[in-house]
Amino acid sequence: MTMQAPAVELRALAHAYDDGTAALRGVDLSIPAGAAVAIVGANGAGKSTLLQHLNGLLLPSSGSVHIDGLQLSRATLAEVRRKVGYVFQDADDQLFMPTVQDDVAFGPLNLGWSAQEAQARVEYALRAVGAWQLAARTPYRLSGGEKRAVAIAGVLAMAPPILVLDEPSSSLDPAGRRRLIDLLRGFTHTRIIATHDLNLALEVCPRVVLLHQGRVAADGEAAMVLGDTALLQHCGL
Ligand SMILES: Nc1ncnc2c1ncn2[C@@H]1O[C@H](COP(=O)(O)OP(=O)(O)OP(=O)(O)O)[C@@H](O)[C@H]1O
Ligand SMILES: [Mg+2]
Repeated sequence: MTMQAPAVELRALAHAYDDGTAALRGVDLSIPAGAAVAIVGANGAGKSTLLQHLNGLLLPSSGSVHIDGLQLSRATLAEVRRKVGYVFQDADDQLFMPTVQDDVAFGPLNLGWSAQEAQARVEYALRAVGAWQLAARTPYRLSGGEKRAVAIAGVLAMAPPILVLDEPSSSLDPAGRRRLIDLLRGFTHTRIIATHDLNLALEVCPRVVLLHQGRVAADGEAAMVLGDTALLQHCGL
């Protein structure tokens, strides 16, 4: 009998930055395929550092990252990145082509898809985030919320089975935020979402992982973790 490997498995994951900052201090986490998990925690708790290990933007100082059973390393980086779509906390880190259309098409073309296929994916993804009307615009001249929507479209266009989003609702207006929540709820992808938007976490994610100073302080049912005000307060939320 073969068992399906978890979509994401972190074992004793630790990360220290070059200046010695210990951002992750031994994180164990297993996320089955198709799950939606929110990562919450105070500023500096290690959320972005954790997320950046999921597609190899960062490599572990110690411990390991497995994606669909495949251990992340320099050798497996390309394969891991085909599985994991990563939306940056800061959309400016992600958008770089002269038009929105080109930006969203970049990933699909890079995957070797035909121009026609790529175009279909661009339209699907921009419509999904409500930004199809921005297709001809210049990314760096968009508003913060428009940039955020386009950055999400750029990742959706590549149809990765695992979506990793860092603060996806920041700078979205209420309508954009609602659209995002409905979109994320409707996905069958594995979703890992770092957020300070605890209501988004509750609406989208049945499971919440609370990080505190680089460690998992709680991991459980969303209403349980987010309902524990003493714990949240202890962890700076
Ligand atoms: N490039 C870096 N060099 C050194 N230290 C860093 C670097 N990036 C982050 N850190 C530190 O690592 C720790 C975790 O930061 P991280 O960005 O993962 O937190 P976060 O939970 O995403 O916070 P926020 O809610 O503010 O986005 C913090 O102490 C931060 O100062
Ligand atoms: Mg962060």
